[in-house]
Amino acid sequence: MITESFMMVAYVLAAVLFILSLGGLSNQESAKRGNLFGVIGMSVAMVITILGAHWSPLGGVLLCVALVVGGSIGIYSARKVEMTQMPELVALMHSLVGFAAVLVSVVSYYGEQPDFSGAERTIHQIEVYVGAMIGAVTLSGSIIAFGKLSGKISGKSFLIPGRNAINLVGLALVILLGILFVRATSTSSGSLPLILMIIISLAFGVHMVMAIGGADMPVVVSMLNSYSGWAASATGFMLSNDLLIVTGALVGSSGAILSHIMCKAMNRSFLNVISGGFGSVSNANSAAENSEPHGEIVAISSTDLAHLMMEARRVVIVPGYGMAVSRAQHVACEITNWLRENGVDVKFAIHPVAGRMPGHMNVLLAEAKVPYDIVVEMDEVNDEFNRVDVALVIGANDIVNPAAEDDPHSPIAGMPVLKVWKAKNSIVMKRSMASGYAGVDNPLFYKENNRMLFGDAKKMLEEVLSILRKYPSRGKT
Ligand code: TAP
Repeated sequence: MITESFMMVAYVLAAVLFILSLGGLSNQESAKRGNLFGVIGMSVAMVITILGAHWSPLGGVLLCVALVVGGSIGIYSARKVEMTQMPELVALMHSLVGFAAVLVSVVSYYGEQPDFSGAERTIHQIEVYVGAMIGAVTLSGSIIAFGKLSGKISGKSFLIPGRNAINLVGLALVILLGILFVRATSTSSGSLPLILMIIISLAFGVHMVMAIGGADMPVVVSMLNSYSGWAASATGFMLSNDLLIVTGALVGSSGAILSHIMCKAMNRSFLNVISGGFGSVSNANSAAENSEPHGEIVAISSTDLAHLMMEARRVVIVPGYGMAVSRAQHVACEITNWLRENGVDVKFAIHPVAGRMPGHMNVLLAEAKVPYDIVVEMDEVNDEFNRVDVALVIGANDIVNPAAEDDPHSPIAGMPVLKVWKAKNSIVMKRSMASGYAGVDNPLFYKENNRMLFGDAKKMLEEVLSILRKYPSRGKT
């Protein structure tokens, strides 16, 4: 058994490690170190919490079983999951945090109650109520997000008529039930408001995420990340665990900051996200259907692409979800190295919501050892495309869709995109004419200066590389 002051010191240490971890994760070069800090912090937190509690023999056995089962599932899924399935896994994990918050709320209400009275009792009731509410929204919202991200549920927005009124009535009911719950004098009289509120919150979570259209999912993912943090924090209050409060607040606030960044990147309003029905201009889909892009699609061969890049002075590569699917980042890096060694200026342009999770492309490029200094953000490169000879789009679609700028009826209207069509030549690598995650046609494919290189990105890039290697090296100019 350990003393309370020793526990406090260990908790402060763990909290500092979590802060260092977040700091490290904000930069590619320090991300590995940040991750390590997080692992050490979490290990310290778990060991100290377990050693600091009083366990009955049965409780001890159950804890060991839970650690072995949970740990094994965690290790198995982390090893098995593909990089492209990571966002789904994260959504599933958020749902578990929400579920845990609901369970802890229910247990701390029905279980052995501390001897609270007066203001202390009211505060405890509020903790239970708020914890269960945030937990239930996180639980059901994250399950729907998992379904949408994994393609098990359609990515299109599902809108109920009068959804805003429904949300408002739901909110009013939750507040009313909260007052009844806090005023309840016995556990049995508080049960009905608690159960009804959990049902309403679960329904709100489903409604909120179902109403969100495909391209706007990134904001939801980071928002649910934030909710899961606040759910953990609420759990910390109920369990009187300071470290859980701090850790939950760190996750909650960093998720909120990320949501803000995502909203800015998507040019959306945060309030709309919270109320659901976000990114779903009511007649957007039908209007977009009427303005289908037209023109000629011109294909290019891998030989011609190799030639074009060899002749270019400036090349900008735009990676997207398709690069992750085909695992083309390594060969893209090899092409980059070859071109740079031959005097071509190459940069990778990263859209904030490229792929399926925040930082998805940065992780892939870091894995392929693409030098950090040639990886640039959208804002750094967007005004320079008119000085670029070749903009090579590898498996990206929505993030280079000019309809976001040109078609006010498009479901992605207003979303900032990479203006690859302003380059001398834009080349889009994909397997077919299929639309991207948002399910919107892309007029870029029909532009005069655009060429399509159809096929699996990795296979086609390997062909390009083998052709480039046949050129006599001209060295850096
Ligand atoms: P998408 O718009 O989804 O386009 C990816 C393209 O890759 C598809 O059109 C697909 O076309 C192509 N592709 C798939 N497999 C390929 C392969 N093996 N080889 C070559 N091409 C392949 O991706 P994006 O441009 O990166 O945009 C991201 C989208 O996801 C946005 O709408 C964003 O809002 C959404 N989203 C993002 C996040 C985060 S946080 N980043 C989270 C959730 C949703 P083919 O099938 O024709 O090959």
